[in-house]
Amino acid sequence: MIRSQIGDAQIDVGLILGGGLTSLADQVGQAINIPYSELPGFNLPMAEPKPELIIGLLGSARIAVFRGRMNYNERSDINAMRVPVETLARLGAKALVTIGAAGAIRQDLPAGSIVTITDHINMTGLDPLAGEPSIERFVDLLGTYDRHLRERFALATGQLGRKAHDGVYMFFPGPSFETPADIRAAQALGADLVGMTIVPEAILARRFGLRVLALATITNLAAALRHEPLTLEDRMRTAAASSHTLNRLLIKFFEAWVLESRITRLT
Ligand code: HPA
Repeated sequence: MIRSQIGDAQIDVGLILGGGLTSLADQVGQAINIPYSELPGFNLPMAEPKPELIIGLLGSARIAVFRGRMNYNERSDINAMRVPVETLARLGAKALVTIGAAGAIRQDLPAGSIVTITDHINMTGLDPLAGEPSIERFVDLLGTYDRHLRERFALATGQLGRKAHDGVYMFFPGPSFETPADIRAAQALGADLVGMTIVPEAILARRFGLRVLALATITNLAAALRHEPLTLEDRMRTAAASSHTLNRLLIKFFEAWVLESRITRLT
């Protein structure tokens, strides 16, 4: 279905934009927009008013942008992003860039910080590959958060005079937020930030041979570090406020894509 609209051009990279962080989708050049509702296997994310796949150009990259992600906590479906991620791989992409909101468990990551995820902790027992009836489900997650892509992103942030932090992301699928004790446990385990997204699609990306760059915008301090209650509106507002900076960084990052002969599939 997608090929009938875009022809046979190979896609270089995919970009998943979560709630409050979708404005970059409007900057795709020569865009072909395909609503998720026309794509079998694409669930409709509740938080996104205009969920669609946008194929076009961003910087020098031929890109597939997913405006809106399907979260585990919407339908208790840990595989909610499987069809989109596999579709991306079948379109020829070498890498997935995914961004999401997160809560910080370090005081030096105030709201508005941008964090490059270096690794994750998933002790939920949830894995999108569970039950897959093939040995392909035994995926090695060593090196999931690709060092080379992280270096390229750090270069782009430096060129714009900004700084992104590095951090380990712990997956708390929500939808309820963590308790202070959850956050103290996460801290003790070595996490720097917590969030409800990223991890399922990062695992799926590795399953389908894609390199991963995962970025988080900090919308709040996590439970043990703050005293005021947290609302979804606050989170969405902060995410939208930091999306301007993140967009500039990503555009810079994608400008250099064509120079990258080293970005190849891993499998
Ligand atoms: N916890 C989990 N997910 C989040 C948070 C949080 O504090 N903030 C944004 N996403």
